[in-house]
Formats: sequence, structure tokens, C-alpha cells
Amino acid sequence: MKIAIIGTGNVGSALGQSWAGRGHEVIFGATDPRSEKVKAVVAGCSGKGRALTVGEASAAAPVIVLATPWDATADAVRSLGNVRGKVLIDATNPIALGMEGLRAGLVVGHKTSGAEMVAVWAEGARVVKAFNTIGAPNMRNPVFRTNAAAMFICGDDSEAKAVVQQLSNDLGFATEDAGGLSAARLLEPMAMLWIHLAFQRGWGTDFGFGVLRR
Ligand SMILES: NC(=O)c1ccc[n+]([C@@H]2O[C@H](COP(=O)([O-])OP(=O)(O)OC[C@H]3O[C@@H](n4cnc5c(N)ncnc54)[C@H](OP(=O)(O)O)[C@@H]3O)[C@@H](O)[C@H]2O)c1
Repeated sequence: MKIAIIGTGNVGSALGQSWAGRGHEVIFGATDPRSEKVKAVVAGCSGKGRALTVGEASAAAPVIVLATPWDATADAVRSLGNVRGKVLIDATNPIALGMEGLRAGLVVGHKTSGAEMVAVWAEGARVVKAFNTIGAPNMRNPVFRTNAAAMFICGDDSEAKAVVQQLSNDLGFATEDAGGLSAARLLEPMAMLWIHLAFQRGWGTDFGFGVLRR
């Protein structure tokens, strides 16, 4: 599948390089696609990656991943151009930049979520929240001993969710459908729990959440 990934940082590079390693075609959308940093990320894509501008990458793929800092996300969505009908995966968390931002927590919540705001900005896109509840390094290998970490996804379009479920399974996650897009109001605080445990409670980053069923 052709996947455009907006952002080549921790999340964008982990998702892109992992999907490329599993045979997907990855097109990074970058503010400076020719920068050395972006070239290095593309070089880690097993020959299945390239980088274009944000608008070009968006136009080239039916599936787009947002992996931008929250403060830059509205601008990134504007740069996507026409996304009507596209599957738009929101991997962002609405927190301000830096450790102070992390400590301050989410900047939206309760009555809306980052994902729902993205859906308003990206008119006509089929938005699915995913890949926000675990630290980026684990996206390269979400299997802990014999247990796959859970990846919760939510969205209002079942076809789009099926696409994201497959892409999440391809990475090795145990993908769990949390319901409609408004469930992002729960998944975004869940990311804050992961961040709290990792950085405030000293767990480090090498863990994920799982689901037990009887
Ligand atoms: N880090 C994690 O473990 C983790 C896990 C789950 C979710 N998240 C969420 O995922 C998002 C990305 O996190 P990250 O750690 O990957 O951030 P990061 O390492 O800072 O990377 C952000 C990327 O976004 C690009 N970018 C910034 N402004 C842009 C714009 N206007 N248009 C297009 N691209 C733009 C940056 O490019 P330049 O470098 O050129 O500015 C960079 O490649 C955040 O919302 C974060 O909360 C993070």
C-alpha cells in the first residue's frame, strides 16, 4: 500500500521504516524533503521510501499519517491539500512542545480531542486515531517476549478503520477497535498515562499496554 507520512521525526521514521521493511511504499511529506535528516530517514526504508513536499506526498497516497508536533498539525493539515475520501491517520497527541509541555498535559480534551479537531480541519478525510498510545521506538517492534502490545484505534468510517487495523497488524500490534472518533478523548489521555509512567515514574520507554480477555 502507498502510505504518505507527514513528519520524519521519532514517530514518522519508526512507522515509515517499519512499513517499508514489510513491503509498503512510503512517501514522506517534509517541509524540506532534500535535507540530510530526511535523506537519512529515507535511506533506512529498504529502497521503498522517498520524500516529497507535504502536498505532493499527500496527493500521491490514499493513506496519510500525521506525525507532527501538535503545534504544527493545523499547518501540516492545511499543506495536505484536498484529502476528501483519504484515510487520514492521526498519530499526534495534543500536547505542547518540550518537557514542560509534557508535564502540563493535553491542551484539548473532555468535550473534544485532537483527532476530532483534525477531522474538522481535514474536510472530507476519513480520520482514524492510531499509534499515539506507545513510545515511538516500540513501533519498530511491539512484541514483548511473546505478547504483542495493544494498539487502540478509533474512527467513524469502518472501511478506513479496517485499513488502519491491517497496517497496525503489519507492524505486529494487537490492534483493538475502541469505537468512533470521539473515543480519541480517551486514547489521548491514555497516551499521557504512557508518558507519565515512562518519564515521571521512571519506567523508561520499553513497555506497552495490553488487553487481557477471559
Ligand atoms: N515520540 C513519541 O514517542 C510519540 C509517540 C506517539 C505519538 N507521538 C506524537 O506524534 C507526533 C510526532 O512526535 P515525534 O516525537 O515524532 O516528533 P518529532 O520527532 O519532533 O518529529 C516531528 C516531525 O514533524 C515535522 N514537522 C514539523 N512541522 C511541520 C509542518 N508544519 N509540516 C510538516 N511537517 C512538520 C518535523 O520536521 P522538521 O524536523 O523539519 O521540523 C519532524 O519531522 C506528536 O504529536 C507526538 O505527540 C509521539
